[in-house]
Amino acid sequence: MSLFNVYPLFNITPVNAKDVYVYDDKNTQYLDLYGGHAVISIGHSHPEYNTAIRNQLNKIAFYSNSIKNPLQVALASKLTKASNCNNYQLFLCNSGAEANENALKLASFHTGNKKVISFKNSFHGRTSAAVAATDNSKIIAPINAQQEVEFIKLGDLIAVEKALQKNNVCAVIIEIIQGIGGLEESTTVFYQGLDKLCKKYKTLFIADEVQSGFGRTGDFFAFQKHKITPDIISMAKGMGNGFPIGGILIHPTIKASFGLLGTTFGGNHLACAASTAVLKVLETENLLENTKEIAAYFTKKIKSLPKVKTIKGRGLMLGVEFEFPIAELRKKLIFEYNIFTGSAKNPNLLRILPPLTIQKKHIDLFIDALEKEL
Ligand SMILES: Cc1ncc(COP(=O)(O)O)c(C=O)c1O
Repeated sequence: MSLFNVYPLFNITPVNAKDVYVYDDKNTQYLDLYGGHAVISIGHSHPEYNTAIRNQLNKIAFYSNSIKNPLQVALASKLTKASNCNNYQLFLCNSGAEANENALKLASFHTGNKKVISFKNSFHGRTSAAVAATDNSKIIAPINAQQEVEFIKLGDLIAVEKALQKNNVCAVIIEIIQGIGGLEESTTVFYQGLDKLCKKYKTLFIADEVQSGFGRTGDFFAFQKHKITPDIISMAKGMGNGFPIGGILIHPTIKASFGLLGTTFGGNHLACAASTAVLKVLETENLLENTKEIAAYFTKKIKSLPKVKTIKGRGLMLGVEFEFPIAELRKKLIFEYNIFTGSAKNPNLLRILPPLTIQKKHIDLFIDALEKEL
C-alpha cells in the first residue's frame, strides 16, 4: 500500500531526538529551529515527560469519556495556574483544527448564528468550519465552501463593526500572531477594539492560540499582552510536546449541557499525562522566561546580519524577512549546516519555532551559518 502523497518531503529520516537536536538514520545531528512546526515546547524526549507517559501507559492509557478521569481535572487545575485564565472551563480534543471546529460550533450553538468573521492570511485548520475560516482557497473543498465566512483585513475595526451590525455573526476568530500567514500581529488598540465590538454585538471572540499558546511567545497565551478577555481560547501544538492533544478554554458565561460537544479520544489518560508533564516542565525550568531571554538575544544578533529586512513575531515564534526568497537558503541550512527552519506564505520569510529550552549557544550556531551564507 502506498502513502497518499500529499506532503513534499525533505530526504531526511529522523529516528532519534533529544532536547533541541534531531538525529537521522545515519546519525547526523540536526539543530531543530522548527520544532516540528511549533509543536516541541519542552524539548524532544524530555525525561520527565517520557517518564510521565511511560508510567501512565503502565496504568491505563485510554478509556472513554463516559467515566470519571481525574487526570483531566488535574490538567485543568494546572492549566488555570499556568495561564491565569481563572474560571474558564476546559474541553479536550486531539488537534488544532478540532479545537477550532469545537470553538466555532460552540459559538454557533451559543449565539444561534452561523456567520464567521475571520482575517486575511489566517490559518485555522483543515476541517469543516476551521478550513472555511482559513484564508486559502486551495484547501477549501466545495463541501466546506458552504460556510458563511467574511475575511477582513487585519487591523480594520471599521469593517468588523460593519459586518457585526447585521447581527448574524456567531464568532470572530483570530490568531493573535499569525503563523503560516507570516507572523503579522496588529496593535493592542485593535485587539481591545475587537474584544469590545464582540461584547457589544454579543458575538464570541475566539483566540486561536494553537500555535502561539503554551508559552511560545513568552506569555502563556499571546493575547495576554493585549489585556483582552476572549470567550474561547483554542490550543494544541505545544500543549502535548508531540503527543496529540488539543483543547478549548471556555469562558464561564458559556454554559455546558450534556452532549453539546463530544469526542472519543479527546482527554484520554495518556494525553492528559503528557500535557500535565509539559506544564510542570514549563514551570520548573522557567521556560517562559527563557523564551523571552533567547528571543531578545536572537533579535539583537540577527539584526547585525546583511540582507535581513525585518524581524517579525514574538518570543520563539519568529520570522526573519530577507530581501530575497528563502527557499534555497532553507535547503542549504538543512543539508549543509544541519539546521531545520520553517517557511511561510511570504516567500522571503524564514520561520524560527524552536523548542523553548533552546540556549544562546544554539542561536550562535544559526547566526554563524547565516553569516557564512549571506
Ligand atoms: C494557528 C493555527 N490554528 C490551527 C492549526 C491547525 O492545527 P492542526 O494541524 O493540529 O489541526 C494550526 C496548524 O498549523 C495553526 O497554526
